[in-house]
Amino acid sequence: MRGLILSGGAGTRLRPITHTSAKQLVPVANKPVLFYGLEAMREAGITEVGLVVGDTRPEIEAAVGDGSRFGLQVTYIPQSAPLGLAHAVLIAEEFLGDSPFVMYLGDNLLKEGITPFVRRFAESAPDALILLQKVADPREYGIAELADGAVKRLVEKPAKPKSDLALVGVYLFTPAVFASVKAIKPSARGELEITDAIQHMIERGLRVEPHIVTGWWKDTGKLEDMLEANRLILGTIERDVRGDVVDSVLEGAVMVAAGSRLERCTVRGPVIIGADCTITDSFIGPYTAISDGVVVEHAEIENSIILDESRISHLNVRMADSLIGKHCVIARSDSRPVAYRFMVGDSSQIGVL
Ligand code: TTP
Repeated sequence: MRGLILSGGAGTRLRPITHTSAKQLVPVANKPVLFYGLEAMREAGITEVGLVVGDTRPEIEAAVGDGSRFGLQVTYIPQSAPLGLAHAVLIAEEFLGDSPFVMYLGDNLLKEGITPFVRRFAESAPDALILLQKVADPREYGIAELADGAVKRLVEKPAKPKSDLALVGVYLFTPAVFASVKAIKPSARGELEITDAIQHMIERGLRVEPHIVTGWWKDTGKLEDMLEANRLILGTIERDVRGDVVDSVLEGAVMVAAGSRLERCTVRGPVIIGADCTITDSFIGPYTAISDGVVVEHAEIENSIILDESRISHLNVRMADSLIGKHCVIARSDSRPVAYRFMVGDSSQIGVL
């Protein structure tokens, strides 16, 4: 069995972060989302993985390399433009050859990894195994309609959904899928849809087996989902303090990497703080992940993700539910006139008081 991880895409829903970075490299609990997928492959016993990449290939390649540190052999598969999930399968045909494979959306996270599904696929040998989970708003997802335990129909983002079972971003296929990705036409949004390819397999009389995922699953393509994934992973960490902690109170599961210094702070876990951070006179509240080299002074932060080398300074009000990119500065200034002063990239969102 081989692996195919989709790590291209446009990432429009995570702008402005995705103007400058790959969304698959945004860290969840200080580890890039993509790394969870790579680790899940390895745990399932898969060692040969194709990584579909787009414009952000250099950054992804710098982070993943040849895959050896994950125990994998990674082959990069360049996609000229984000032309759809089924297009990614199409261009991976040469790499996948006649091997069955797991396709994994590089911005997805599954609590139970993929091992149980790989096992199930091997046992029951269908032409495709799709994973499903009930969702609150089916209009945002690819949706499966079942009848007598079999997949009857798949619809991409239906306006009037007939089911609330969404397709989780992990699919298992035999090479029978290639004939279908070649047969379908682009959808109204101009993409080759994987839902159409699977629907085509059903219509050819192939066996598409559904499997309901019971553990949590998160697609981190949007801010709220990214923060929720961060909460779910932070909920599993254990206390591990390596940095210097001076005149501070650390409550619950708090991780502080070496080289960081906390002074006169209260940190209420679960919280993860990376290396070489300086945090003074501050409160860091639950479900916060702070990456390396961050400075926080006279501020309160909770339920947020702060990326490398940013500085948060002298805020009067607690910052919450935020995703702050790399090298950002959010600081109070005493200069007149008293005003908000912004230098903000395209598609940013700022909530003011
Ligand atoms: P999506 O989140 O569905 O698409 P997107 O990345 O274009 O994001 P947005 O809708 O916010 O613009 O993609 C799921 C995963 O698959 C993600 O890791 C990107 C990847 N992908 C590709 O590699 N190639 C593609 O053609 C598409 C559409 C997605």
